[in-house]
Amino acid sequence: MKELLSILSEEVGAAFQAAGIDREYGDVTLSNRPELCEYQCNGALASAKIFHKNPMEVAETVAEKLSSSDTFEEVSAAKPGFLNMKASPEFIRKYLSGMYGDTDRLGAEKTGHPEKLFMDYGGPNVAKPLHVGHLRSAVIGEAVKRLARFEGDEVTADVHLGDFGLQMGLIITELKERKPDLPYFDDSFTGEYPAEAPFTISELEDIYPAASAKSKEDETFHEKALAATKEMQEGRRGYRELQRQIMEISVSDLKKNYARLNVSFDLWKGESDAEPYIPGMVEDMKAKGFAHESNGALVVDVEEEGDKKTIPPCMILKSDGAALYDTTDLATLIWRMKDYDPDEVLYVVDSRQELHFIQCFRCAKKTGIVPENKKLTFLGFGTVNGEGGKPLKTRDGGVMRLEYLISDIEDAMFEKIRESSPDMDEAEAHDIAKTVSLAALKYGDLKNQPSKDYIFDMNKFISSEGDTGPYILYTIVRTKSILRKFAEAGGDIANVMPATPSGASDKALAERLCLFQSEVKSAYENLSPNILCAYIYALCNDFNHFYHDTKILSCPDEEKKKGYIADVILTRRVLEKSIDLLGFEAPERM
Ligand code: ARG
Repeated sequence: MKELLSILSEEVGAAFQAAGIDREYGDVTLSNRPELCEYQCNGALASAKIFHKNPMEVAETVAEKLSSSDTFEEVSAAKPGFLNMKASPEFIRKYLSGMYGDTDRLGAEKTGHPEKLFMDYGGPNVAKPLHVGHLRSAVIGEAVKRLARFEGDEVTADVHLGDFGLQMGLIITELKERKPDLPYFDDSFTGEYPAEAPFTISELEDIYPAASAKSKEDETFHEKALAATKEMQEGRRGYRELQRQIMEISVSDLKKNYARLNVSFDLWKGESDAEPYIPGMVEDMKAKGFAHESNGALVVDVEEEGDKKTIPPCMILKSDGAALYDTTDLATLIWRMKDYDPDEVLYVVDSRQELHFIQCFRCAKKTGIVPENKKLTFLGFGTVNGEGGKPLKTRDGGVMRLEYLISDIEDAMFEKIRESSPDMDEAEAHDIAKTVSLAALKYGDLKNQPSKDYIFDMNKFISSEGDTGPYILYTIVRTKSILRKFAEAGGDIANVMPATPSGASDKALAERLCLFQSEVKSAYENLSPNILCAYIYALCNDFNHFYHDTKILSCPDEEKKKGYIADVILTRRVLEKSIDLLGFEAPERM
């Protein structure tokens, strides 16, 4: 189905044409004065200037031409030349029926020009616990991926693990100091290594920070870690096995954490997958004259004319020949282009890394790693702050682990449910708390424009009133409960169909429902899941208004009642589809 506003714009455009003015002036938008009208068109004002006419006269002529249209109930000209419109209830019914008949996509068309999108989000680091900074990447990335797929683009999602060499060397070196007798360190050992890893995930999470701190203070330890990294990369048997074990344990723990967040990836590649491409890339950059030496390091200049601030060169190799963050991101683009040939690569990363991506994108284009016609996009997100507006920390000032944040909000939600429904079965209360707290967490994040910082205010997030995840879920649960009661009273859902709205609140609800496809499209095009959040919040308000205003189940007019039930069904479907696109779900009751 076409978007509602496009249909209205076409019709108004035709009226402009009939009045001797270009159709393009007929662009219709939602009214910004809802108390006056539902839709508006400012084309008379714009065109009058160009056609040297009186704007009010243009508006009046166009209104006159539309007076017999079945699409509009009312079109009026308002000073100094606005066109104010109300859609006809019958037109709205037809549009809703179209949506109603399409249970799968609710009338939303797929893009006519699908693209291949490669997404880089998540970005966790091996052997380090996920922290709150990784939350946004996962939550926003997942929503954008789902929106992209719904719109019809072909998406490959890569978690891009931070697993580059030195991290492994550090862990191996520290492990060797702690447990020197393990067979991995014995060169004469030729047997099979134990199936069981020599550490658990929590030991690993202790080993890595300890090693990292040591290497900053202790030069010999640092040298040892570098040497171990090199030996591992060159294939030393015991070290390779340790690397495999570290990856296995770490990745299975990460998968568990992401699953809990309802986030998934197609590829579990890491920075280290770029390693094989680094030597060739460096040679090529040198041979083509892109890379030059600067203070011993190898760099590529990426400054461009018109830069407002200085963009430092891309660092390809350190003076000791080691690869850096720029290096792995560039070499990663080589295999992404070769194996996936995407039209666009989209990175969902903390906005504090923006400069790094500006440098990499410019370097990738300049050196031909990525052809000129491909898009490289950085979707930078703001920081999650604590109550005081400072980055969220643990009580003792440490980095907030994501796991703790999730448990905290789940516990708080559980308490809340126990209070409001003391006789609910404990296991059920736990289940509901899990589902609702995840929605609270994700919605609390997604409702903000990605680039903005936000404050993690747990009590606000879990509140069932206001612009929150639980409020959205409550509304969905309400639709489910109405439909259950309708069925219990002998109603047959197969028998209902959208009816012509007859009052203000059912019309407002119906018209909001009609906007579903435009809002989803706009959320994707602007890489802003917050647009879809704002839409479902408004839809919930319209629905609850309608609910309080209308006798639904006790409506004496059977035909009307069926129409109301169809509205409830469509509200439920639009809300459920939307939260699925945002990456969370609703319980049966709460
Ligand atoms: N691992 C990085 C971090 O924790 C994020 C990686 C982002 N993606 C990328 N291609 N650089 O900061």
